[in-house]
Amino acid sequence: MDKYSLRYPSHRPRRMRRDAFSRRLMREHLLTAADLIWPVFVCEGESVREPVPSMPGVERLSLDQLLREAEALAALKVPAIALFPVVPAEKKSDDAREAWNPDGLVQRSVRALKRALPELGIITDVALDPFTSHGQDGLIDASGYVLNDETVAVLVRQALSHAEAGADVVAPSDMMDGRIGAIRTALEENGFPLTRILAYSAKYASHFYGPFRDAVGSAANLGGANKFTYQMDPANGDEALREVALDLEEGADMVMVKPGLPYLDVVRRVKETFRVPTFAYQVSGEYAMLKAAGRNGWLDERKTVLESLLAFKRAGADGILTYYARDVAAWLREDPLAESIWE
Ligand code: PBG
Repeated sequence: MDKYSLRYPSHRPRRMRRDAFSRRLMREHLLTAADLIWPVFVCEGESVREPVPSMPGVERLSLDQLLREAEALAALKVPAIALFPVVPAEKKSDDAREAWNPDGLVQRSVRALKRALPELGIITDVALDPFTSHGQDGLIDASGYVLNDETVAVLVRQALSHAEAGADVVAPSDMMDGRIGAIRTALEENGFPLTRILAYSAKYASHFYGPFRDAVGSAANLGGANKFTYQMDPANGDEALREVALDLEEGADMVMVKPGLPYLDVVRRVKETFRVPTFAYQVSGEYAMLKAAGRNGWLDERKTVLESLLAFKRAGADGILTYYARDVAAWLREDPLAESIWE
């Protein structure tokens, strides 16, 4: 054995970590406002800002308030928002017919947003859960089973109504088989060849969605039921790749993994396998955890939020849907390199 080997480590990775300048030089990933998509809850009425109890800092906004927020968001250079409607109980039904009402809440919101802020990308959610009296993402049979092809037919009508209203991107979050192909064909045949599809390809049956279901009011409708017959099992990774392959084959422009932080291994595998625009959703439960720990003084909220979003970038996400988008974009305005993580 060489006489120095015990006295000196052969490599000293710590040399590069010694000073801020070399840490900064070797930093591999960067979080910017252009990586963010803001999910927002839109409700009926005027001047409504209704807090969501399980998501402190998140409000259900009526359209006038949403327009104000969207303007601020666009000024912060966030590329897009994703709309989620809060539908009053009397508009929910077993056949979810409100979902494709051309004057429905989503359709009206899209038209108003596109008129006021043509540059801001508008992403709409294609799924029936806000509109069904039973809270499932699709139509059900007598046993409560979610029917695939019958649901796809309704999703197509919903997606077309969004495209007609001017949505830039339709985002099916329902996990029915074959819905991407059906929606793509319908868009082509109806004069919307440029409407993008962001497919929630690997959407897991996650308990991290709890606060979202409170926010849109589907938790009560769902009762004790679950979504295990269509959303993916958290135990599976290979299956996510099969789902992504199908959605791409059927015409998806972008794919998504959801939830985010507990599923970053899936984001990495999807990105490495397909090399397509890949998104991840930091879902309501992830927001709630960070917010709760931050409010209790158990974590530094700003630093941990920035760190978690940087982790999405490192995993390979091209963009992140996060309820923190507005806050983060404002922080990045003051601190464009997100260096407050390291202060
Ligand atoms: C349903 C939908 C869900 C979310 C987005 N779209 C919840 C569900 O599948 O029950 C969850 C988002 C979040 O938790 O932030 N189509």
